[in-house]
Amino acid sequence: MTSSSSHAPFPTLDQAQLAGKRCLVRVDLNVPMDKGRITDATRIDRILPNIKEISEKGGRVILLSHLGRPKAGPEPKTSLKSVAVELERQLGCMVSFSSNCVGEVAKSAVNALQNGEILLLENTRFHPGEEKNDRDFINGLAELGDLYVNDAFSTAHRAHASTEGLAHKLPAYAGRSMQLELEMLTSMLADPKRPLAAIVGGAKVSTKLELLGNLMRRVEFLFIGGGMANTFLAASGKSVGKSLCEIELAGIAKQIMAEAEAANCQLVLPVDAIVATKFAANVPTRAVDIDAVGPDEMILDIGPRSIARVVGLLASSRTMVWNGPVGAFEVPPFDKGTITIAKVAAQLTKAKSLETIGGGGDTIAALNQAGTFDDFTYVSTAGGAFLEWLEGKLLPGVEALRGTEEYVL
Ligand code: 3PG
Ligand code: MG
Repeated sequence: MTSSSSHAPFPTLDQAQLAGKRCLVRVDLNVPMDKGRITDATRIDRILPNIKEISEKGGRVILLSHLGRPKAGPEPKTSLKSVAVELERQLGCMVSFSSNCVGEVAKSAVNALQNGEILLLENTRFHPGEEKNDRDFINGLAELGDLYVNDAFSTAHRAHASTEGLAHKLPAYAGRSMQLELEMLTSMLADPKRPLAAIVGGAKVSTKLELLGNLMRRVEFLFIGGGMANTFLAASGKSVGKSLCEIELAGIAKQIMAEAEAANCQLVLPVDAIVATKFAANVPTRAVDIDAVGPDEMILDIGPRSIARVVGLLASSRTMVWNGPVGAFEVPPFDKGTITIAKVAAQLTKAKSLETIGGGGDTIAALNQAGTFDDFTYVSTAGGAFLEWLEGKLLPGVEALRGTEEYVL
């Protein structure tokens, strides 16, 4: 797959002089939380090596991140304070915290840092200048550092002050997890071992039109599952009962199917489904052929023949890219299709017959649920950024690191 990213190189930590330097490190601590508790620490795990390396090389690590989407200034719900505690636990060393990411509070916290020490600044989105990529806000952040390291691929689709603006203001480097994401995505998808199969799922086709458009030109097989498949099924004249379906997109779905055919991409839809009249755990279900969905029924997972079809596709492919569950996997028994695909893909990866790459919040959750997260060749922790990469778009946070733009503040 050709990505639209330019191939200009980006500087990494190998090129940076870190000792004694104030290093502003953009990480993505936008971790899922439930009542103040972190429910998935994958993103934290991934950034630890970069932090440790800078610290071990004598850099002063100043971490920048957003959490959630606060719109009206500081609020306890999206404070990064509790994340500092988790970071401390995982790093096994002290992580100090500043209750503001700019201004006097931040400056004195930075001034107190010794070489190798780590500081986390409060949520950058508590300031409107962050999302506006505002010059004064960028300057306020830039004052705190000598150099900038972006280790947050998962926010690289946002042109915000801490993800993009800073890269034009300070000497900028890709952090280790950013570097790994770019290397893996490029090596696995720019020149993949073929055949290349894509599995795309999720609730809504409206959010994935561009993805499908780009993928069909790059892959040999494209399996569409999840709620979004229903729109394609309805467009092919099947009755989908009470299933989630964006019928207003039927015309576009037909066009996608025609374009896939013209592009020699085999677009595969479910041939059977698991249906129920109610969406709840362990309700009575039926496995039906795709043209036998009753008017009161909802399609909530792919059926056994569809699972077999996907397994066959994977067995005859050399690379697989996966974004989005093929059923309502959070609620059993509608997890079967998604979990089976995760397990089969993991087995084929272990047998070295398939290279597997997945990404997106739901896909990560599904891989964790299946216990196969570590068996995939690579799992991106990015959601929107992974999607935009697969759509063939340039990611502002990545492009800014390549230094290809003239942008003077
Ligand atoms: C993500 O979780 O996808 C990133 O952290 C970006 O968050 P955002 O969608 O709120 O910009
Ligand atoms: Mg997002």
